[in-house]
Amino acid sequence: MKRRLIIDCDPGADDAVLILMALAVPQTFDVLGITTVAGNAPIEWTNKNALKLVELAKRTDVKVFGGCRRPMLRKPIYAAYAHGETGIDGSSMPEPKTSLQSRHAVDFIIETLLHSSQKVTLSVSGPMTNIALALIKEPGIAEHIEEIIFMGGSTNGGNITPAAEFNFYVDPHAAHVVVSSGLPMKMIGLNVTHQLVTSEHRLEILQRMGNEVGRQVAGMLAHGVEHDRVRFGLEGRSVHDACIAAYMLRPELFTFKKMRVLVDHAGEATMGASITNEYPAHINDQWLSVADSIQADQVFDLIIDLMRTYKD
Ligand code: RIB
Ligand code: CA
Repeated sequence: MKRRLIIDCDPGADDAVLILMALAVPQTFDVLGITTVAGNAPIEWTNKNALKLVELAKRTDVKVFGGCRRPMLRKPIYAAYAHGETGIDGSSMPEPKTSLQSRHAVDFIIETLLHSSQKVTLSVSGPMTNIALALIKEPGIAEHIEEIIFMGGSTNGGNITPAAEFNFYVDPHAAHVVVSSGLPMKMIGLNVTHQLVTSEHRLEILQRMGNEVGRQVAGMLAHGVEHDRVRFGLEGRSVHDACIAAYMLRPELFTFKKMRVLVDHAGEATMGASITNEYPAHINDQWLSVADSIQADQVFDLIIDLMRTYKD
C-alpha cells in the first residue's frame, strides 16, 4: 500500500531534494499535498520555490498550499547565509506557471487528515509552525497521523547557535508543541544529517546526469558548499532534509534510539536547543525515535538514483 504523505517544508535546497525524491516514486508515495512555511526564506519565496519544484518534477498533480509566514511568537529569521535570498540560489528554474491553492496550509492539513480513510505521514523539514497550529486548532487530527518524520534538533549541538538547530530555533514554541504531543515521531537531527554531504564528484554526477532535475539540484546544492565547509568544517554541503525521504524509502540505512526530547522554548543562550537523553525521568516522559546513525554513502547513492529517473 502506498504511504500517504503531506510534505511540510521551507524550500530550501535540501527541502528541494526531499520533494524531488518523494515525487520521483509515485508508486511508493501518495503525496496528498505540499505545504510551505517561512524558514530558509520568506513565505513568498518558499511558496514560489515549491511551485517551481513540482513543475520541474512534472508533478503539477501535487498541489501547493501556502502556510505560516512567521513563527508562533518569535520574530521571523531566515537562512539567506546558506540558501541565498531566494532560498534556492544556484538554481535557474523559470517562474512558476501554476499557482498556490487558496486554502491555508493549516486548514489543508486538518481537512485532509480528518477525511483520510488511511493514516497519513507528515514529513516536516522546516520550522514546525503549520504542524503545531494544526494540532492546536484541531487536536482530533492526532488519530489520523501515521507518524511525523522531521528534520530538526540535534543530539550534539546546534548550527544557527551553538545550542540550537535552525528549524527548532526559528520556532521553538511550535517545536515544543509538536515534540511534546506524544504522537509517533522520528527525529532526524544534525548529529545524523551533517554526515550526508555533497562532494565535487557527487555534484558532477548530478550536473552531468543528462536531465534538468540533476542540473538544478547540482546548482542549488553547490551554492551552499562554501558555507557548510567554512562554518562546520564539513567536506561539502549537508543535504539535511533528504534524510526524511531516504528513511521512508530505505529505513535500513538508519538506526534510531528511543530518547526523551525536550525543546528549550524559554531560554536565552539555549533558545531552541533540543535536550535529549536515553534515561527515563519522572517528568514529561515523551519518548521519540531519534536518528542515531546513517549509511550516508548509500543514502547519497539513493538521491542520485532517484534524480536520474527524471526525464526531460
Ligand atoms: O538546520 C537544517 C534545517 O534548517 C534544514 O531543514 C534546512 O532546510 C533548514 O530548514
Ligand atoms: Ca528545511
